[in-house]
Order: sequence, then C-alpha cells, then structure tokens
Amino acid sequence: MKKLKIGLIGSGGIAQGLHMPAYAHFSDLCEMVAVCDVRLDVAKSCAEKYGIKMVTDDYRELLANKEIDAVSVTTPNKWHMQPTIDALRAGKHVLCEKPLAMNGDEARAMCRAAKETGKILMVALPNRFNGPAKFLKDYIDAGKMGDIYYARAWALRRRGVPGWGVFIDKEQQGGGPLIDIGVHILDYTLFFMGYPKPVSASGKTWDYLGKNPNLTNNMGDYDRSKFTVEDFAVGLIRFENGAVVTLESSFMANIEGDPFQTQLMGTKSGALVSPWGNHVRIFTEENKQLFDLEPKNVPHLNGGQGEVEAFLRAILENKPSPVPGEHGLILNAIFDAIYKSSETGREEPVDVTV
Ligand SMILES: NC(=O)c1ccc[n+]([C@@H]2O[C@H](COP(=O)([O-])OP(=O)(O)OC[C@H]3O[C@@H](n4cnc5c(N)ncnc54)[C@H](O)[C@@H]3O)[C@@H](O)[C@H]2O)c1
Repeated sequence: MKKLKIGLIGSGGIAQGLHMPAYAHFSDLCEMVAVCDVRLDVAKSCAEKYGIKMVTDDYRELLANKEIDAVSVTTPNKWHMQPTIDALRAGKHVLCEKPLAMNGDEARAMCRAAKETGKILMVALPNRFNGPAKFLKDYIDAGKMGDIYYARAWALRRRGVPGWGVFIDKEQQGGGPLIDIGVHILDYTLFFMGYPKPVSASGKTWDYLGKNPNLTNNMGDYDRSKFTVEDFAVGLIRFENGAVVTLESSFMANIEGDPFQTQLMGTKSGALVSPWGNHVRIFTEENKQLFDLEPKNVPHLNGGQGEVEAFLRAILENKPSPVPGEHGLILNAIFDAIYKSSETGREEPVDVTV
C-alpha cells in the first residue's frame, strides 16, 4: 500500500504531544515529510526529532509541495480557517484541530471548501476514539438507553487557565473555556446523542476570576491584564428533536475539583461518562429495583492514535470523514449563539446551514 505523505502546519503543544507521535506510530501507513511553524526553531527541532526533510515558516510553501497528500492544522484557532481552505484547494486532506474555527461563519467556509474539493476535512476530537466512547456508543446504538432527551455536560476547571499559548486572548482564540474545552465535552455528548440538529441556545459568560491577579492558577502563570476571554460559561441548547443539553465550562470557578464529564438521561437508562480515566456508570431499573452498573471491560484505547488512524484509513480506503467538518460547524454555531445570548440576554437561533 502507498504510504501517505504528511505535512504539519503548526508544531506547538498538540502537534508534538499528539499528531507527530501518532503519525510516527503509524509509520506503515504514512510518513511525515514537511513541518511548518512561524517559530522556525521549534519546527526545526521537531524535524530533527522525527527525520522530517522539509522545514518552513510559511505554510503556503508547505502546501506548494506536490508530494504531500494530507496535513494536520495545529495552529491557534485564528489560523485554522485559511490554512485549511488553502490546503483543501491545494488538493490535500485536512485534519484540523478543535474547535474547527473561531465562529460558525469560518467553519461554514471550511465545510464548503471541503465539499467543493471533495477532500476530507476531519475535526480533531480524540475523545471519540477512547475506550469509554467505544463502550458507551455501542451500548446506546444497541438501544439500551432508549431516547436520550437530556444531557448535562461539564468541562470544569477550578484553577486551570492555560499558562502557555494564546488561550486567554479572545482575538486569537474566539473565546475562552467554552470554545476551548467546552468543545470536547459538547462533542462527546452530541456524539452519544447521534448529533441532533440544534435550533437555539441561551447562555451567559463571566470573567470575574480569570482577571484577578490575587488568585492562584494550577496550569502555569499568565498575565492577568491580557485575559480577554470568559472564565466561566453556561449554555442551554435546544435541539430539533426536543432534546436539551446544558453545558458548563470553566478555566476558573469556585467549585470542588475539575469535573470533566457528561451525564446522559435516556428513556430506558442513563449514563455518567468521563472521557479521561476510563470511567463509565450506567443507571437503570429492573423489576422495580434501581441499579448502578459499572462495566468492567471498557477497552483502554489511545484516543489520539485512534483519531489519526481513522484519518489515515479514511484517506487510504476512500471513506467519508470520521469527524466531519459539519460537526465542527454545529459546535461553533452553538458557541456563537451562547456568546450572543450572553450579550443580548435572549435565546438565540443556531445557524448550521453549510
Ligand atoms: N485535541 C486536544 O485535546 C487539544 C489540546 C491542546 C490544543 N488543541 C488545539 O490545538 C491548537 C493549538 O494548540 P497548542 O496547545 O498546540 O498551541 P501552541 O501555542 O502550543 O502551538 C501552536 C503553534 O502554532 C504556531 N503558529 C501560530 N500561527 C502559525 C501560522 N500562521 N503558521 C504556522 N504556525 C503557526 C505557533 O508558533 C505554535 O508553535 C488550538 O486550536 C487548540 O485548541 C487541541
């Protein structure tokens, strides 16, 4: 089988922590041939580590390389859209980091480019490929939970503002914890619910704690005066099928611990699942007895590797995108409505048209 030639646009935290090791792991399927970063020294050190022959600080130069079949876009959110659209138009398949874009309009443009070019656009959402997701999706698809009509999704950190990168800069990120980590738990939740179509959302965001220089932080230091995103967000999302999801996401909040989980309520049973820690519990009733079930054989899977393998195999086997751009658009459009609702004080429509 022909090995796919891979390029990487962005060689920071997630590129080094997930994409590069995963591509290296699947060396029977692919080969990394080019890496780009505006910090050329960082790109160079990655190239040395993985034996990547082309290094550049201009992603357009990378895209001009005809031998490249597919790219990972692992830049900060502001630089997801243009490199992705340019890559698709240059005939490359794209695995783009989450959130797909800064907002719904950008995500829409990316989905259109994928449609026009016929290339794969996959959103990097690795939790879908971990053990609890595999177990619970199979359980739900077997009809064991009935109809899921409500979910409570939490991506909460007590003192977890990222001290690196540009995560506190609204102009480069599009938002704070809602768009950065809320995206993981909302995707996880909607994946289990079969991605129903959202119609409207209301919500509220605050920034009382993130700007406060007197508070401690558990994820490195940062300049409080540059904190322009929310530190906590809550949203209530309504779906066309009548289901509702509430979403809470924080970088800082005065709460117990750092709960990262979703609680699904179905007509036959419910579930509490956390994407990290292989933890799933099922809540059900039989013969007027209540049961809390803990599955014992939840597989241990590496979500990051699973994501990259799914991307590579979709290209090689001519399959549809394992996590389509349209799902990224739904997530971005929901965040747009929650942010807007926080300003207007009203419920706002969610526009998911491509
Ligand atoms: N899947 C996950 O669990 C996960 C985890 C962390 C980050 N992410 C996502 O990955 C993206 C990057 O996050 P990170 O933590 O790696 O940030 P980072 O700051 O560590 O890395 C980003 C890199 O992109 C480079 N860059 C910026 N603009 C560029 C451009 N125009 N061309 C080429 N390179 C450019 C920067 O110099 C930096 O090295 C974000 O969208 C983030 O949401 C995903």
